[in-house]
Formats: sequence, structure tokens, C-alpha cells
Amino acid sequence: MSTPVLDVRGLAFAYPDGHQALFGVDLHVHEGERVALLGPNGAGKTTLVLHLNGILGAASSGHGKGTVTVSGLPVEKQHLKEIRRRVGIVFQDPDDQLFLGTVRQDVAFGPANLGLRGAELDRRVMDALDRVGMADFVDRPPHHLSYGQRRRVAVATVLAMEPEVLVLDEPSSNLDPASRRELAEILRSLDVTVLMVTHDLPYALELCPRSVVLSEGVVVADRRTFDVLTDEQLMSAHRLELPWGFDPRRIDSLPG
Ligand SMILES: Nc1ncnc2c1ncn2[C@@H]1O[C@H](COP(=O)(O)OP(=O)(O)O)[C@@H](O)[C@H]1O
Ligand SMILES: [Mg+2]
Repeated sequence: MSTPVLDVRGLAFAYPDGHQALFGVDLHVHEGERVALLGPNGAGKTTLVLHLNGILGAASSGHGKGTVTVSGLPVEKQHLKEIRRRVGIVFQDPDDQLFLGTVRQDVAFGPANLGLRGAELDRRVMDALDRVGMADFVDRPPHHLSYGQRRRVAVATVLAMEPEVLVLDEPSSNLDPASRRELAEILRSLDVTVLMVTHDLPYALELCPRSVVLSEGVVVADRRTFDVLTDEQLMSAHRLELPWGFDPRRIDSLPG
């Protein structure tokens, strides 16, 4: 089989205060897959995500073991620049990602750091904004946009790096239904490997053929999303609940 885009092996991690969040996580994601990462609050989902581009891990002050590699490249201090180009993380709060005066500046920030300039940089920026339907807002200040629009621009800041894998932490949280649907359409249209942390189980079912359930710092299931959502014992054991009235068996078209 091909080298996984994301290859996490035996990953354990304790925060500097001693709180252990991960206890030996294994996760492999291959090119072109869309995988949902599910689990109750405090399961360690965000902690895992922050290891994927080295925000936590070898380079941080916590204590851990295990390895993370991205298309064969280990997440280690000397590779962090390349790792951060390969792994694009969209944080839970778009305001953690947008901090400059205009949408253009925010989206250009990453690729400019890679050394792109002029027409090539412009092309990256406009291409990324096109993919999220925000090209018309390029000269607007991010803080004048709606929350849903800011989330889309946050996705564009990451796409502008042309990452190998897009990692999203709770992409549908705080979105109104129309913005949630528009973001789903955008995510479906992207030709990129996706790992998506979510509490929104219908969203996982709609977008991700495969789901991994993390609970108390370990992977407790890694199967087809449909099979996870219809396993009542697994669901209740890990505090996963479908929205009232939602029945996965009554959805007639599921992603590949
Ligand atoms: N900076 C931190 N210092 C100490 N403990 C933390 C820190 N961040 C998170 N934790 C703890 O680690 C565990 C996993 O947290 P997190 O990865 O945020 O879970 P999730 O994203 O699944 O809700 C939780 O018990 C949380 O309280
Ligand atoms: Mg979290």
C-alpha cells in the first residue's frame, strides 16, 4: 500500500501539568480519504490534531512518545516548516487564524512566508478564495465578515499553502444551517485529503466515509461512518448522540 499521508503510531502525550491526554493512538490516513474524528469532550481530539503539524509533540514542553509522519516525513523540529506546508490546520475559532487588515493579507501570509511573491502569490490567494467562494471579499477586513464567511476565509488561508492534508477542528460549530451546508459543499468539492474533528454526526456521515472514534485518549473504533453511527452500544459508551429524529438508515445517498 502507498505511504499514508498521515501516519500516527503509538502516540502518547501528557501536558506539562501532568495531565495525560493521549495513551497510544494509531491512525493512518491515505491520500484522498475524508475521515471524521469523533469523540466526547475531553477525548483528546484537539491534542491529537495539534501533534499533526508539531504545535505539540517533540518540539513542545509536554511529555510524549510515539511518532507522527506526514507522507513519510517525521514531524520533528528540523522539518517543521515543510510539515506545516503539508498539513493545513483550520482551528476551531476562525479568529485565531485571521489577524491582518484584509482577507488578501491573511490568505497571502502563509505562501508569502514560503517565499512566493507577485503574480504567483496573487494566483495562490485568488485560487484559494475561489475555492471557498470568497473571491469577492478579497479586499475586505475579515472582522467585517460574518462568522461563516470568516470560517471560509480561514479555510482559504490553509488552502493557499496547497497542503497535502486539510485538518479541520469542529468546522460546522457556530454556523447557521445555510453556512453549514455551504461549507459542506466546499469541503466536498475539494480534491484534498481531509481529517475533520466534529461533534456534528450528520456532517460526518455526509462528508466522511470513514470515522475514527477517540475516547479517553485512545482510538476505540475505526470503521465506516455509517457503521459507527448505527452501533448503539458504541455510541452510548462514548457519549455520542445523534440529533433527535436523525436516522442514518434513512439517508439515501452516502459518500463513497
Ligand atoms: N493546555 C492543557 N493543559 C493541560 N491539560 C489540557 C490542556 N489542553 C487540554 N487538556 C486536557 O487534555 C484532555 C484532552 O483535551 P482536548 O484534546 O482538548 O479534548 P477534545 O478536543 O477531544 O475535547 C482534556 O482532559 C483536557 O482537559
Ligand atoms: Mg477540541
